[in-house]
Amino acid sequence: MRVLVLFAHPAQRRSSINTAMATAARALKGVTFVDLYAEYPRFSIDVDREQRRLMEHDVFVFQFPVFWYSTPALLKQWQDLVLEYGFAYGPQGKKLAGKQVLACVTTGGSRADYSESGGNRRYIEHFLYPLEQTATLCGMEYLPPFVLYSANHLEEDSAQDHIRSYPQLLTALRDDRLDLTRARLLPAFCSPQLIDLIRN
Ligand SMILES: Cc1cc2nc3c(=O)[nH]c(=O)nc-3n(C[C@H](O)[C@H](O)[C@H](O)COP(=O)(O)O)c2cc1C
Repeated sequence: MRVLVLFAHPAQRRSSINTAMATAARALKGVTFVDLYAEYPRFSIDVDREQRRLMEHDVFVFQFPVFWYSTPALLKQWQDLVLEYGFAYGPQGKKLAGKQVLACVTTGGSRADYSESGGNRRYIEHFLYPLEQTATLCGMEYLPPFVLYSANHLEEDSAQDHIRSYPQLLTALRDDRLDLTRARLLPAFCSPQLIDLIRN
């Protein structure tokens, strides 16, 4: 499958995890990597170019840190402008139908924070619901999100494990080796679960 990574992080100088994940993703052959903040520092998105890119790929990976329980602002701007009526939705606009969306997110909050009894009172998939429903409205399949919790408080081993897993996930998608039947049963997944989802 043709994989397009759309990476959104407005403060990369302060990033420890996402920039390392992005470096690994950018190096992959056969995966298109786009750093949205680098391409559009003034938020003036080239809608035609973005729509062309979407048409040329099968899977869209949104990589971002969760900011205020949502996407960073430029990724929201991208959705607002690129997913146009008549292109992504509406009676004549089913150009993205059948494609897939995968959110790859990092959170400051822990896994326990993202539960009904935790500080955030909801699971991470609930906060990502706007992305899920946007994909559904556009006729795309929303895959369970790949999540790294507690991204600011990780043991070095866990951070490295996640950074190593990310390109493995992208290449498995690229090569049709991600077991989607099993993945679809999960609400979300983390790097330790990935090994069971990749077929050799
Ligand atoms: C402006 C801002 C808002 C944030 N909002 C949230 C949030 O709503 N939930 C959460 O779990 N973490 C939140 N965080 C923490 C980030 O998700 C975390 O720092 C990031 O995932 C770490 O990845 P990085 O090292 O690549 O920046 C926020 C951080 C910033 C700077």
